Amino acid sequence: MSVKIESLTKIFAKQIEEGTLTALDNINLEIKDGEFVSLLGASGCGKSTLLRIIAGLEIPTQGAALFNGERIEGTSPKRGLVFQEHTLFAWLTVRQNIEFAAKATKRLNSRTEISNWLEVAGLTEFADNYPHQLSGGMRQRAALVRALAVSPEVLLLDEPLGALDSFTRMHLQDELIRLWKGRGNTMVMVTHDIDEAIYLSQRIVVMSPRPGRIAKILEVRMSYPRNRAVGDFTALRTQILKLMDFAQDVQEEYTI
Ligand SMILES: Nc1ncnc2c1ncn2[C@@H]1O[C@H](COP(=O)(O)OP(=O)(O)OP(=O)(O)O)[C@@H](O)[C@H]1O
Ligand SMILES: [Mg+2]
Repeated sequence: MSVKIESLTKIFAKQIEEGTLTALDNINLEIKDGEFVSLLGASGCGKSTLLRIIAGLEIPTQGAALFNGERIEGTSPKRGLVFQEHTLFAWLTVRQNIEFAAKATKRLNSRTEISNWLEVAGLTEFADNYPHQLSGGMRQRAALVRALAVSPEVLLLDEPLGALDSFTRMHLQDELIRLWKGRGNTMVMVTHDIDEAIYLSQRIVVMSPRPGRIAKILEVRMSYPRNRAVGDFTALRTQILKLMDFAQDVQEEYTI
């Protein structure tokens, strides 16, 4: 598996006034097999747009997005996407949602396998519930498992834990690491939570807005599970805050 973004620019026509909006400007990025990469940046810097291009839902204006050396054209079950808002089918139960995705992509059919997935996500008890009968965290988990159950080579996550309270969020971050370690697939996650990016990823792509550019790519070499309270973690957080112009008076440079 490899994802390669080459000199990619995405320009949208403005919705109301005349003119254009450069959502992404000359992005170059290579994502390696099995890597956990986060795209981090302020609202509107083009994170979802970049993820949607990798998913095949948008096409670049200039440059290219390649998957395994081939230009990405349209969606593929090899590139699973979990949207910013969960998109479970309201009229199907949790189990049926997972079955539906699995059948649609002919990836996995047995009830036992689906039961295993439900177990992994701690949803066994709620397998026959409809989405509106779940808590927000359960819905997010169900959407995540539905995406994972079709065994994508790369899982594209658009703020998968966005709408959760901080405790559920931290719990699901651990679950995400466990799922990723267990499966070994590639993860590309969009977030605007600095700690989440540091806690989860091996590399953090820090983006700057208008036009969306890569400000810096940081490597996080701490081993898993990570500790949010240690010096390496907080030093990296400070470095990112500084990069994003939220901590102008910090003088020291850190390398971790
Ligand atoms: N289909 C579209 N048509 C026109 N403009 C768009 C379209 N999609 C995105 N944009 C614009 O592109 C820019 C980047 O949007 P994008 O959704 O990628 O940002 P984001 O970094 O994901 O933001 P957020 O953190 O708020 O989700 C924004 O200014 C947005 O208005
Ligand atoms: Mg977004």
